[in-house]
Amino acid sequence: MKHFQAALLSALALTQAVLAEFSYTIEATHNGVPIPQDQIKLEAHEPTTDILNRTWAPSPPSSKPPSRTGKRSNPVSISANWCGAVKHTNSSNQIKIVHGYFQHPTCSLRSGVTSYPQYAAPWVGIDGDTWTSAILQSGTVCTVSSAGAVSNSAWFQWFPSAAVTISSMPVNAGDWFEVTVNTTSNTAGKVTITNVSQGVTYTATLTGGATLGRLDADWVLEDPVSSSGQVPFASFTETWFESAYATTTSGASLGIDGATMYQIGSSGTCQSAEYDNADLYVWSN
Ligand SMILES: *[C@@H]1O[C@H](CO)[C@@H](O)[C@H](O)[C@H]1NC(C)=O
Ligand SMILES: *[C@@H]1O[C@H](CO)[C@@H](O)[C@H](O)[C@H]1NC(C)=O
Ligand SMILES: *[C@@H]1O[C@H](CO)[C@@H](O)[C@H](O)[C@H]1NC(C)=O
Ligand SMILES: *[C@@H]1O[C@H](CO)[C@@H](O)[C@H](O)[C@H]1NC(C)=O
Repeated sequence: MKHFQAALLSALALTQAVLAEFSYTIEATHNGVPIPQDQIKLEAHEPTTDILNRTWAPSPPSSKPPSRTGKRSNPVSISANWCGAVKHTNSSNQIKIVHGYFQHPTCSLRSGVTSYPQYAAPWVGIDGDTWTSAILQSGTVCTVSSAGAVSNSAWFQWFPSAAVTISSMPVNAGDWFEVTVNTTSNTAGKVTITNVSQGVTYTATLTGGATLGRLDADWVLEDPVSSSGQVPFASFTETWFESAYATTTSGASLGIDGATMYQIGSSGTCQSAEYDNADLYVWSN
C-alpha cells in the first residue's frame, strides 16, 4: 500500500490527481466548520472493490433468508463478492443520486477461514452490475488481522481507478455514516461521506472518471479484491442500510422494492433482505 506524505498533500493543495486517472478536490467540515486542507489525509487503498462477480455459484440458495417483515418479493441472486441490494433502471431514466445511511459493523475473524487479513466493506454507489465498466462509490472497510485485531477506514472510489482512503476520517464499529453519490453527468459527480454521530463530512468533487451508465443503484457490503484476487471475507455484525433511495434524471425516486437482493455463497456467508422500501439489512453466519 502506498502512502501519501503530508507535505506532498499540502503542496498539491486542493487538486489531487496522483492516485487515479480522474481528478478531484476534497473538502471537509466538522459541524459545518471547514477542516484545514493540511489536516485532510488521503492514501491509496488496498484491497479495493470490484464489479459484481456473478460467476461463482450456478444457482440461488435453496432456502431463502428469513424475512422479518414477511415481505420478500424481491428477486434473489448469488454473487461471489456483493451482498445487498441493487436497483436497476435504464438509459432513458438514468440514476442521478444514490443515498443511504449505514452503520459500520463490528468485524471479527470468520470461523473456518484461515487466511488473513480478512475484510468487509459496506458502501453506497452507482453501477457495477448491469454496467460493468465503472462504479462511483464510497463506504468504509474493516480489516481483521490473524490475531483478531480490527482496523477500520473510510474511502471513495471511481472504479476502475484505485480507491482512495480518507485516513483522516476515523471510523469505529457502530458509527453511522451517510453517503450521497450525486452525479452531474456520466463522468462527473460529488461523493459525500459523513460521520453522522460527529458531524464530520468529507466531500470529493470528481471529474473525468470512467464513463458511468448510471443504471444501477447499489447498497452493498462487499468482500473486496486485491491484486491477487478476492480477499478473505471477515465476519461482521448485522449491518443496516437506511433511508436508501435513488433519484433519476426524470425526477423519479427509486427504493428497495423490486431491487435485486444479492447473497454471497449458498450457505449464508452473507445474506441480505429488504425490510421496507427504504431499508435493508445484511448479515453473515
Ligand atoms: C469470481 O469469483 C470466483 C470465486 O471467488 C473467482 O474464482 C473468480 O476469479 C472471480 N472472477 C473475477 C473476474 O473476479
Ligand atoms: C425505464 O425506466 C423507467 C422507470 O424506471 C420506466 O418507467 C420505463 O418504462 C423504462 N423504459 C424502458 C425502455 O424500459
Ligand atoms: C464518528 O462518530 C463516532 C461516535 O459515534 C466517534 O467515535 C468517531 O470518532 C467519529 N469519527 C469521526 C471521523 O469524527
Ligand atoms: C446534487 O448536486 C446538484 C448540483 O451540484 C445540487 O444542486 C444538489 O443539491 C445536489 N443534491 C444532493 C442531494 O446532494
